[in-house]
Amino acid sequence: MTDLTEQKLATLNAIEAAQTPDALEELRVAALGKKGWVSAALKTLGQMSPEERTEAAPAIQAVRGEVGDAIAARKEVLEGAALEAKLASETLDLTLPAVEQKRGSVHPVSQVMDELAEIFADLGFAVATGPEIEDDWHNFTALNMDESHPARAMHDTFYFPDKDSEGRSMLLRTHTSPVQIRSMKEQGAPIRIIAPGRVYRSDSDATHTPMFHQVEGLVVDKGIHLGHLKWTLETFLKAFFEREDIVLRLRPSYFPFTEPSVEVDVGYAKEDGRRVVGGSGDDEGHEWMELLGSGMVNRRVLESAGVDAQEYQGFAFGVGVDRLAMLKYGMDDLRAFFDGDVRWLSHYGFSAFDQPTLSAGVGARA
Ligand code: DAH
Repeated sequence: MTDLTEQKLATLNAIEAAQTPDALEELRVAALGKKGWVSAALKTLGQMSPEERTEAAPAIQAVRGEVGDAIAARKEVLEGAALEAKLASETLDLTLPAVEQKRGSVHPVSQVMDELAEIFADLGFAVATGPEIEDDWHNFTALNMDESHPARAMHDTFYFPDKDSEGRSMLLRTHTSPVQIRSMKEQGAPIRIIAPGRVYRSDSDATHTPMFHQVEGLVVDKGIHLGHLKWTLETFLKAFFEREDIVLRLRPSYFPFTEPSVEVDVGYAKEDGRRVVGGSGDDEGHEWMELLGSGMVNRRVLESAGVDAQEYQGFAFGVGVDRLAMLKYGMDDLRAFFDGDVRWLSHYGFSAFDQPTLSAGVGARA
């Protein structure tokens, strides 16, 4: 028995001193393994007399239990330490400032779209999207431009050779206005959305590219009138250009999908040959520039989209995103936007770390 006690003490000390799971495993095999000394002691029970056995058996079992418990306890300690060491070696200090990788930049069009989303989200608008491959009905007919409407000819449309399964002509959308129809059909009224995205027209010169960007705005609710439209556009443009002296002029115009329709001009001044938005076009040295189309949603459009025009009214507007970007950030050739020239992009692009927020100013600080 003393032998066993000695072996036990030696093993317990060794367990306590073990530094690795492997060392611990070796000790376990040496004691509790098939050929281990505890197993050997258990085997001696067979040759004992019943009296001897009643005394020896519980003692050997107790040693087995003690050694087993000690190994389990040490194993936990070693595993804990290993985890601590792993965590310590993988530490990531999230409070450190980010190292700016000067690789790539945010395109001015994306930047402006983010700014628009931020401004309009604050006014309770959701961002809606629609397909760029559109059908004739959503792009024209539902917007009060049926097949014979002369306004169709004003959109230089890219048509696809094949019709869809319902016999509709397919095309690249010529404006973001079809998203009005899709959103109203999906959500009904009341509704408050902006829909930014790509649009296509077969047209190309210094101020026109076959693909460009628009953002559509739509508000439908009870009792909506032209005053809401004007306030919304003023609030949007003040936030976007980050100045209070934005002066708008509403001129009567015509769009098939609005009645009445208004063209919105904004006052600007020329500074160093650049147009700088602000002030009134009626003032000395200031001029008016046409900025966007808008109006009260034509009731025929509401009806096409399944909205009760007796109960609901709405306003809508559409504006060129590229143009807004050019005005705000001083680019003068639209074609350069889509050339993919890295020199242009690194000059006019924005840092990905520069998220527009209303509290910090939507304008990029880069
Ligand atoms: N869809 C028009 C265009 O591309 C722009 C526009 C005008 C949109 C008036 C509107 C609107 O929503 O009310 O030329």
